[in-house]
Amino acid sequence: MTKVNVGVCGLGRIGVKHCRCLAQDREHYALTALCDLDGARVAAMQAELGGRGYDDLDAFLADPGTELVILATRSLDHARHAGQALAAGKTVLLEKPIGVTAEDYRILQQLVRRYPGRLFFGHNHRFEPAFENARAFVAQGLIGNLHVIKLRKHHAFMRRNDWQMRLDCGGGQLSVWGPHLLDQGLQLLGAPVREVQSHLRRILTPGDADDHVHITLVGANDRIAIIEISNAAALPEAYCTLYGDRGALSYGQDQKTIRLKFLDPRFRWPEAAAEAGTPALTQGMAADRELPWIEETRTVEPATSLWDQVEIEMARHLYNALRRNLPFPVSSADALEVVRITEIVKQQNPRFPWIG
Ligand SMILES: NC(=O)c1ccc[n+]([C@@H]2O[C@H](COP(=O)([O-])OP(=O)(O)OC[C@H]3O[C@@H](n4cnc5c(N)ncnc54)[C@H](O)[C@@H]3O)[C@@H](O)[C@H]2O)c1
Repeated sequence: MTKVNVGVCGLGRIGVKHCRCLAQDREHYALTALCDLDGARVAAMQAELGGRGYDDLDAFLADPGTELVILATRSLDHARHAGQALAAGKTVLLEKPIGVTAEDYRILQQLVRRYPGRLFFGHNHRFEPAFENARAFVAQGLIGNLHVIKLRKHHAFMRRNDWQMRLDCGGGQLSVWGPHLLDQGLQLLGAPVREVQSHLRRILTPGDADDHVHITLVGANDRIAIIEISNAAALPEAYCTLYGDRGALSYGQDQKTIRLKFLDPRFRWPEAAAEAGTPALTQGMAADRELPWIEETRTVEPATSLWDQVEIEMARHLYNALRRNLPFPVSSADALEVVRITEIVKQQNPRFPWIG
């Protein structure tokens, strides 16, 4: 099967990571073109990995030697740059946040309709090993039917001060980590969203954007997903905690091990009824005292860096989509739903002067 000739536009913190990951995967990809407004960044990447260099998006998109372009420019440009790249005949992997404004949302809906199969969305934290492992445990039925999902990205206590903390640059944690946790939350919710409640705050950042995000989603199946992203949680809590009707699982911010506590799969609840009468003074509250719990701590597999693994998995799935006609796990509908929820959250938090 032929390699995918890929170009990367935006050679910042994440763009460089994409370049290095793709360049290592020589069997499937050839990194043919690099683009950044900053010529020094282009020259440095070319010296390291080769490829043709551009400091202008239009010239980069006119390069006939690239089939796929990865757009890792600033957030507010994403939807518009995706439109330009698709119109130039490229297949596109668009970084998150795929859209920041209501206008972006409208553009993306149009692009998905107009260019079927050519626009992919980089919600790469779908591929976090711990998240995938946890989903597999849930699918095995170990903790029973889920009823509560808690996802928390608690950063080190920090006064983040770059453009991603300014609303006029499309920043704020709703844009920065929101897409990842909303994507994971929606997958675990497993049903259309019936209700959204949210509270956004600016606690520490010297920017004007949100650095504490709290969102509750309720699914049509009654599941509750609680999402919290914070730069101001000095005692970080678990990254993920799932409650089921036969147990629970949890993993920390380092995502290295998953703690499970679940009822022995052979156990069946004995018949019971709630009594209306006054209980004896000696009587406790629960009919079932001795439950057959199984408690385990499992190492997350593969035990590699989650930051590398999400890149490797995204590249693998993208190649499978482009050359083997397999579905990319993050569907357009999944990605657009994240933007739709984000728009609702913005409307619920008018104290922030959102653009668009
Ligand atoms: N998926 C992830 O895990 C992940 C991680 C980090 C960042 N991101 C997203 O990627 C985007 C970039 O983030 P970053 O932290 O790398 O930012 P950054 O500021 O470090 O890098 C952005 C780069 O894009 C270049 N650029 C801007 N406009 C351009 C244009 N029109 N043409 C060519 N180059 C242009 C800049 O010169 C800069 O080098 C953001 O939207 C961010 O949300 C995603």
